[in-house]
Amino acid sequence: MAKVLIATEKPFSRVAVDGIKAVTDAAGYELALLEKYTEKAQLLAAVADADALIIRSDKVDNEVFDAAKQLKIVVRAGAGYDNIDLAAATAHGVVAMNTPGQNANSVAELVFGLLVYGVRNFFNGSSGTELLGKRLGILAFGNVGRNVARVAKGFGMKVVAYDAYCPKEAIEAAGVEAAASQEELFDTCDIVSLHIPATPETRESINYNLVNRLKKGGILVNTARKEVIDEEGLLKLLQERADLKYLTDIKPDRAAEFESVAEGRYFATPKKMGAQTAEANVNAGIAAAKQIVDFLEHGITKFQVNK
Ligand code: 3PG
Repeated sequence: MAKVLIATEKPFSRVAVDGIKAVTDAAGYELALLEKYTEKAQLLAAVADADALIIRSDKVDNEVFDAAKQLKIVVRAGAGYDNIDLAAATAHGVVAMNTPGQNANSVAELVFGLLVYGVRNFFNGSSGTELLGKRLGILAFGNVGRNVARVAKGFGMKVVAYDAYCPKEAIEAAGVEAAASQEELFDTCDIVSLHIPATPETRESINYNLVNRLKKGGILVNTARKEVIDEEGLLKLLQERADLKYLTDIKPDRAAEFESVAEGRYFATPKKMGAQTAEANVNAGIAAAKQIVDFLEHGITKFQVNK
């Protein structure tokens, strides 16, 4: 009997775990759960006899693969798979997958939760501003970016996007203005929302010079990854420009400095919250379970990311 392990430092909703269990039960698999673990040793022990692993932002590195002697597949229930050492997965003969799009609406809705909170001055009672008519720049037009565009139109915002890997025509076909570069996006927008993955190319790419292009009163929203931010540069800029705001659901490494430098203009959720809805957990969790069954039973590798 195949054993599937859900290892989530930040747990899925109960309904999502039940949904995953329904899929693994139907396939005749055993399901094990490791939630809210605090030590890597707990993960190393739990993966020892797992054939399949479902994770979220949990780090799966060479040591984890070494410990997981039976492992055939790891599925990141979500979009970004920068937490999986893909080369180590391949070296250990393990298929790695993500579940693209499944939590995209959840992340997109949080962007607007952060934005309304931001433009209303963190609900401190002072007079804020509205989103209607403001120009929103979306950096990377993937599943999340597209959902952000959809919701932004509901707010009556002007929506612009730039994506180094998505042609201008595809952005325009979605009814969104296409910027020619990320510099143009920052130059021309009131708000920029980041939806780029964390890769060697994007690492610390959101830096002092780029963010400094934002208009007076500009807002940077980051529901992508903390690694894409040049924290040194952004801290310096927030110190120099008292008009800028930074809103994120990924606490920066230098969170305490952001709090002191940009008090009332910086907000980070205590945990990464973008995909933390019952719906997103159900969608991504069940997709992960189905992908595992499809792979173990039929060899289907549609969402493999370590090809
Ligand atoms: C993703 O890449 O899917 C999101 O960042 C969500 O991450 P999480 O599953 O850790 O909430």
